[in-house]
Amino acid sequence: MNKKLRKAIIAGNWKMNKTPSEAKALIEALKPHTEGMDCEIIICVPYVDLQTAIECTKGANISVAAQNCHFEDSGAYTGEISALMLKEMGVEYVIIGHSERRQYFAETDETVNKKLKAALKHGIKPILCVGELLEQRENGTTFEVCEAQIKLAYKDIDKADAKNIVTAYEPVWAIGTGKTATSDEAEQVIKYIRTVIAGIYDKELADGVTIQYGGSMNAKNAEELLDMENIDGGLIGGASLKAEDFAVIIKAAARG
Ligand code: PGA
Repeated sequence: MNKKLRKAIIAGNWKMNKTPSEAKALIEALKPHTEGMDCEIIICVPYVDLQTAIECTKGANISVAAQNCHFEDSGAYTGEISALMLKEMGVEYVIIGHSERRQYFAETDETVNKKLKAALKHGIKPILCVGELLEQRENGTTFEVCEAQIKLAYKDIDKADAKNIVTAYEPVWAIGTGKTATSDEAEQVIKYIRTVIAGIYDKELADGVTIQYGGSMNAKNAEELLDMENIDGGLIGGASLKAEDFAVIIKAAARG
């Protein structure tokens, strides 16, 4: 992390876990660990938990995110939720392009770009996920893959909006597998992503945006990952479902 240049952000991605009552219990357990911490803390909860999360986090150092949104404001899209709807609820962030959505729900670079624009239009800050598959890591195309994803995601987004995008580098082979990228591997790719963003906009903007690492980050490895110059936080799945584990990660980010 380089806190002089950038905001450290720890985000918990709950995925499809926790009913509203369970969400309330987890947030109450988490709250004492967030007070006075020098980093931004976000919980990315299922749609049905948003209202509970917003109510329970009032006045606390926790922001609330959704895990996806549609790119239109309204219309005949059964089962979908728009950024406009999230905005009215008081949602501050939204994950866009998580690899599970790319893999299982036909999310493409084009829909990712449209969703980013929709979120930004309504003043919701996107957490954009990019990352390579195992075979891409193995055939040496990690940098190309991430560069292409970044360029397509940021397509036609102006500088003022781009400042509000948080990027999460999540190697797909590390998500939910217990296999983490080494701190050097993660640092190299994130540093490269920063140069790609600098190429689209400029160095000043790229130096100021938060880029997280995600993929089996946990209470044990968080400190080492967060010690790297370019890793500004984490997007955490499994370890965000236990207040004590998430608290250790928050502490590691608050320290620097
Ligand atoms: P994980 O998930 O921490 O369980 O690997 C990370 C993510 O999918 O954002």
